[in-house]
Amino acid sequence: MKLLSADFVTSAAAGGTAHGIPHDGLPQIAFAGRSNVGKSSLLNALCRRKIARTSAAPGKTRLVNIYRAWLEGGPGGPGRWSVYLVDLPGYGYARGGADAAAELRATSEAYFATVARTTPAGTPDARGASAVVGTLLLIDSRHPGLESDVVAAGWLAQLGTPWHVVGTKIDKLSRAERARNLRELERTFGTAALPVSAESGEGLDELWQMIANLVRR
Ligand code: GTP
Ligand code: MG
Repeated sequence: MKLLSADFVTSAAAGGTAHGIPHDGLPQIAFAGRSNVGKSSLLNALCRRKIARTSAAPGKTRLVNIYRAWLEGGPGGPGRWSVYLVDLPGYGYARGGADAAAELRATSEAYFATVARTTPAGTPDARGASAVVGTLLLIDSRHPGLESDVVAAGWLAQLGTPWHVVGTKIDKLSRAERARNLRELERTFGTAALPVSAESGEGLDELWQMIANLVRR
């Protein structure tokens, strides 16, 4: 699989209007996770250029930022394909679990509802023609099992679209911590987490494979 190009498309307010969110039926992959978990950094690493703004201070991304990547080949065979990568605002910044959940709901629910509403009629999808083909729930590998992430996972599960757990900043862990925390993530979320690092590049190829499998089914 080869990344051909990636570009910023648009920023849309998370507040619920359809403005700015593409509705051309092309597949969208949503990146969800707590503030500061590394969503924007991971997008930049995946796209091999700095298209998303990152910050050491949490709460940087307050809008839904949408990028588009073009690829060639990979799972599903040869040929060009394209996907929207959607950077959702982080939840849980300096707040407890319940507020964090409400925040995620407000922003992400608006996004998911908008996509479902605006996807052209006739798209085969029993759940309301959503073009979101999958969500990546990013979790800081150093902090497996935080309440706000567990709540977020529960919320994503009831959406009905596929979702996967991605363990970020894996470069920050020692070998022993890494094994322990990946086990803990799997125990907490009932599914293996894909370890990634925007810093070292670990897991990026595997993540593209995961995205291709969601998009090119
Ligand atoms: P919000 O936009 O606030 O929701 O944050 P975000 O999830 O987009 O996080 P962002 O990508 O801005 O990264 C937050 C901080 O973590 C930055 O200081 C990054 O440099 C750092 N960071 C992100 N990914 C990695 C990683 O894989 N390894 C290491 N060591 N640091 C990382
Ligand atoms: Mg961000």
